[in-house]
Amino acid sequence: MSKMLTGKVAIVTGGAKGIGFAVAADLAARGAAVVIADLAGAEVAATRMREAGHHAIGLKVDVASEADTTVLAEMAIAEFGGIDILVNNAGIYSTLKPRPFEEIEPAEWRRLMEVNTLGIFLACRAVLPALKARGGGRIVNISSGVAFKGNPWMAHYVASKGAVVSLTRALATELGRHKILVNSVAPGFTLSDGVLENATLVERVREPSTRTRVLAREMTPADLVGAIAFLAGPDAAFITGQTIVVDGGAYYH
Ligand code: NAI
Repeated sequence: MSKMLTGKVAIVTGGAKGIGFAVAADLAARGAAVVIADLAGAEVAATRMREAGHHAIGLKVDVASEADTTVLAEMAIAEFGGIDILVNNAGIYSTLKPRPFEEIEPAEWRRLMEVNTLGIFLACRAVLPALKARGGGRIVNISSGVAFKGNPWMAHYVASKGAVVSLTRALATELGRHKILVNSVAPGFTLSDGVLENATLVERVREPSTRTRVLAREMTPADLVGAIAFLAGPDAAFITGQTIVVDGGAYYH
């Protein structure tokens, strides 16, 4: 694999498992030093990566906490000397119970929005001085195909992922002058670690999502990592404000 990210420092939120861990391992394999920021399991995940010969640290971080995201940026700089790439992957999805919108409790709506949207805002805000200090950087936000399809039974989640697309555009517009490029990837239903632990979700979504793809097969985190690395790397140097849908051709964006 090309070491196109050698010398770069990447933060992956929610990087301890699922899509985030696959992304962290892929960025590391391409040469980046990686900071895994997660509510749980960050150090275990980083140890796995170090055992594979990569530069990695793990930090216990709640992206919805301003204090945690501030410490995250400070620790990344202290350990690796700067920050070049932020992948905002942490999100509440795989633990959701599908249900009609009127049965969603306001407290659940608030917490989901805090993690899935405020969390991206806080992480971006925390790393901004470091990206500027490097003369530029990359931010890749993980949205979802549901933002475009308006899927039922998780209205708060769908709303949060629509917000990710819009926030990506607004940040791209504001940060372009600093050579900070902001893009988003919108995955289809992906058999991540968390999803595989949610039998109801798998039962409801696995078959229809596979059937409605042009490339009619199941999707795994490995299907996503290339698009994210591309947006984080040198070949995407003139792309900003965009959302790439990676879903095997279920939705044409
Ligand atoms: P997962 O459940 O396998 O992993 C999520 C990770 O994020 C976990 O390690 C969890 O501890 C961490 N996390 C959760 N809340 C956090 C917080 N407040 N602060 C820090 N870390 C936190 O999830 P999966 O499926 O890998 O999803 C990752 C991202 O991809 C999410 O943003 C999700 O919405 C998005 N996505 C997932 C799809 C899927 O079908 N799996 C489809 C489209 C988007």
